[in-house]
Amino acid sequence: VRTVAVPLGQRSYRIKIAPNLVARLGEECRRLKLGPRCAVLSDTHVARRFAKSALTSLKRAGFEPFLITVPAGEKSKSLVTVQHCHDKLAAHRLERGSFIVALGGGVVGDLAGFVAATHLRGIAYVQVPTTLLAQVDSSVGGKTGVNLKAGKNLVGAFHQPCLVLCDLDTLMMLPEREYRSGLAEVIKYGIIRDATLFRQLERNLPGILARDPKVLGPIIARCCAIKAKIVGRDEREGGLRAVLNFGHTIGHALETVSGYGRYLHGEAISIGQVAAVRLSEAALGFPAAQAQRTTELFQRAGLPVAAQLNLAARRSLFNAMQQDKKVRGGRVRFVLARRIGSALPGQEVADSLIHRVLEAILSRKP
Ligand SMILES: NC(=O)c1ccc[n+]([C@@H]2O[C@H](COP(=O)([O-])OP(=O)(O)OC[C@H]3O[C@@H](n4cnc5c(N)ncnc54)[C@H](O)[C@@H]3O)[C@@H](O)[C@H]2O)c1
Ligand SMILES: [Zn+2]
Repeated sequence: VRTVAVPLGQRSYRIKIAPNLVARLGEECRRLKLGPRCAVLSDTHVARRFAKSALTSLKRAGFEPFLITVPAGEKSKSLVTVQHCHDKLAAHRLERGSFIVALGGGVVGDLAGFVAATHLRGIAYVQVPTTLLAQVDSSVGGKTGVNLKAGKNLVGAFHQPCLVLCDLDTLMMLPEREYRSGLAEVIKYGIIRDATLFRQLERNLPGILARDPKVLGPIIARCCAIKAKIVGRDEREGGLRAVLNFGHTIGHALETVSGYGRYLHGEAISIGQVAAVRLSEAALGFPAAQAQRTTELFQRAGLPVAAQLNLAARRSLFNAMQQDKKVRGGRVRFVLARRIGSALPGQEVADSLIHRVLEAILSRKP
């Protein structure tokens, strides 16, 4: 078992990465000295595969768990579902010492975390992320929340989990497209913070695509350690945490203008990162040979590196970018990189350069 510590004073916790952790959920929770009653929150796809094992393990360790299942998909990140969960928790008389287990991908994690943050003004929760994206990104850092009609993640809270269990076996069941989408975030960590990780990804890509736990274990642990370190120094997004948004300004805008559903998040930020590297070449002297390597790695991972949008669509993408939350004082700030392994947030870029890069990347056949 690999363990990564998230250093947040009183709110510190551990991330454990290993095969077969769902079956050990009960014993892991017993060490946390929590009350006996707990809810396992999951979605239909994940519950079908893993809920039984999670519940059995909790019972064997002396807990009294019950299961709440929500429909799979982003739609479940809603206030209606939040209310539904609160009602269930109240009906089962959860108490202050009770806890919630989030068993699923980022949707379940964000939802369960927010329910935990608000039930009885805050109870404990344990993350058991079952997608690659959730294991390396959403389960770490304490951002929880749900969507409104007006936009994604507009209602939320910072609420840190008390434990994160990344079970490598769960990834074997993940649909191929979801898995590759998660790899876009993995590659991101290499680009923003760790040239060694990046080389490791280049070298071990076949093992990664085969989801070999021996190859994946150290890589997922490294990604979690990078995020943990950044979150540990900037729990509430003061500035540093923004480097995690590398490729996301253009990626989010692409998700918005193409309608959610056209691209998975990881696919959109793959294109967004290729664009950010192009901007970095022009603005910060990112080496051309390294730019080539990043594009190739995304391609080898089966991720898109270009899109074909007409002029009108590119214009609305540019406008969507201006709406991005990272806009400060009317100007879009980008996270850019000086080279593989070193990214800087808060970079201003001339509009003419942005247009040039958007045209280069978003007007050709992918
Ligand atoms: N809190 C954060 O810091 C943070 C960071 C990044 C993303 N997010 C959020 O995460 C969400 C996306 O997360 P996601 O990509 O994990 O999506 P998801 O939770 O919707 O999971 C993707 C799909 O895979 C299924 N699935 C999950 N695990 C499986 C498994 N082991 N085997 C088979 N199928 C499985 C799910 O049922 C779903 O259909 C978004 O809502 C996003 O806003 C949050
Ligand atoms: Zn992301």
